[in-house]
Amino acid sequence: MVIRIAAVGDVHLDQDVVGRFRPALEELPDTADVLLLAGDLTRHGTESEARCVATEFGNLGVPVVAVLGNHDHHCNEVPQVIRVLEGAGILVLEGTNVVLDLPGGRLGIAGAKGFGGGFAGRCASAFGEPEMKAFVQTTSDSAEQLGEALREMDCDLRVALTHYAPVPDTLAGEPPEIYPFLGSYLLGQAIDSAPTELALHGHAHAGTERGTTPGGVRVRNVAHPVIKQAYSVFHLHPPYAGGAKVSLTSGSGIS
Ligand SMILES: [Fe+2]
Ligand SMILES: [Fe+2]
Repeated sequence: MVIRIAAVGDVHLDQDVVGRFRPALEELPDTADVLLLAGDLTRHGTESEARCVATEFGNLGVPVVAVLGNHDHHCNEVPQVIRVLEGAGILVLEGTNVVLDLPGGRLGIAGAKGFGGGFAGRCASAFGEPEMKAFVQTTSDSAEQLGEALREMDCDLRVALTHYAPVPDTLAGEPPEIYPFLGSYLLGQAIDSAPTELALHGHAHAGTERGTTPGGVRVRNVAHPVIKQAYSVFHLHPPYAGGAKVSLTSGSGIS
């Protein structure tokens, strides 16, 4: 048995992008059981851009589960954006989870946007000014919610979905100076606190596709500029089918 997960992030939709992904998405039910969207679905987080996302990613014939990204927060229209997405059947996770009963098994997805802060040895700490404490606390809260959402699921396989990166591996290619704004090791710790099978994120447009958490969980940066296709598809084999493993097997290209 296999669970087939399609994923892409950072599609940054506005009117001019509508239609570019749709031809490949029409084939999705043949190649995947679910589509995960790793945030930055819109360009500036407006309600009208969210309607473009709904047009492009709604009614696909497979469940669509998303987290938002920093761009989706920019215009302070998050409630409206979520309402439009959920109206199109796109489930938005934020420190929450969902278990999907798929032909290959029960897939648990825990999602959170996450936040920055950096990685071991070069990270922000909750010290000094209240602004710095608030910055670190935001990440800490998000990681805590993600960890809890992962641990509490009753499922065959767990996947973590974030916008910000949980490890520095998948940031390779980005300037090191901006790593603290691209992710946090706290997200990696949260992912390692549960028997997570795969962690997907976006945000690092100039990053690298593959990484691993300190606990050995496979991490994939599915930002559209990184994967350079409409989506990547991962085949996960539930443990009862002879040992868990994940492989990148296919995808559909767009320019
Ligand atoms: Fe982005
Ligand atoms: Fe982003």
